Amino acid sequence: MTATLITGANKGLGFETARRLVAAGHTVYIGSRDAQRGRRAAEQLGARAVQLDVTNETSVEAAVKTIEADGGLDVLVNNAGIAVEWSDTNAVIGAADVTAEVMRQTFETNVFGTVRVLHAFLPLLQRSIAPVVVNVSSGLASLTRATTPGAPAYPGVAYPASKTAVNMITVQYAKAFPNMRINAVEPGFTKTDLNGNNGLQTVEQGAEIIVRMARVGVDGPTGGYFDAEGTLPW
Ligand SMILES: NC(=O)c1ccc[n+]([C@@H]2O[C@H](COP(=O)([O-])OP(=O)(O)OC[C@H]3O[C@@H](n4cnc5c(N)ncnc54)[C@H](OP(=O)(O)O)[C@@H]3O)[C@@H](O)[C@H]2O)c1
Repeated sequence: MTATLITGANKGLGFETARRLVAAGHTVYIGSRDAQRGRRAAEQLGARAVQLDVTNETSVEAAVKTIEADGGLDVLVNNAGIAVEWSDTNAVIGAADVTAEVMRQTFETNVFGTVRVLHAFLPLLQRSIAPVVVNVSSGLASLTRATTPGAPAYPGVAYPASKTAVNMITVQYAKAFPNMRINAVEPGFTKTDLNGNNGLQTVEQGAEIIVRMARVGVDGPTGGYFDAEGTLPW
């Protein structure tokens, strides 16, 4: 039985990914920073709940102990993410207004949180016969796209910068751990709370590439950056 942890899985893309992986036969741990929201989501799906705030060392260490005691981990989906720069009115805080605090908050979850969770779960993943990591990135992370003349302009700084960092983290971990399949994925602009439900895709569509990369076999790609259509430019 494949044991899979998805961070931030109490709603949105993480929840849909959990639903699909439960259906595919995985033992799925719903990581949720709020224990009650996590339990509710897990009950709905026939999954297990584990309290996990990616910004909190103690919480992450406790989640490692719980999952280790249950038998270990094969697949880690680093999905928890925030976009502080989208205001309630859906305006984006751009370069003129972004502050170090906005950057810090964004990186705390999207970047440091990803590394905190990866670092803590590495010993468990290394004991798996087919370890897989999926880092949920974004198309906005692509420097190639962002610098292509005529490409749609996105004014925010913090969120895309954090996801570009996630991409580099993916590459470096993939090089360091060639026995693991470690990839970054772009779900596409999906209707979730992250963007005030203004996304154009459904969570079913958005979760497609996350699920595919979570189920990748030992001969599958590693160190890549993918959306549902294929490889993306870095
Ligand atoms: N939606 C899109 O268009 C889109 C496009 C590209 C990439 N993504 C990425 O997809 C991932 C999932 O986002 P989503 O669209 O599904 O957004 P969402 O519905 O807002 O879900 C985000 C999830 O992350 C959790 N989370 C936030 N901070 C956390 C923390 N410190 N510790 C643990 N969990 C935390 C949230 O928990 P709470 O319920 O407690 O807040 C929630 O479960 C993110 O990494 C996002 O950047 C989304």
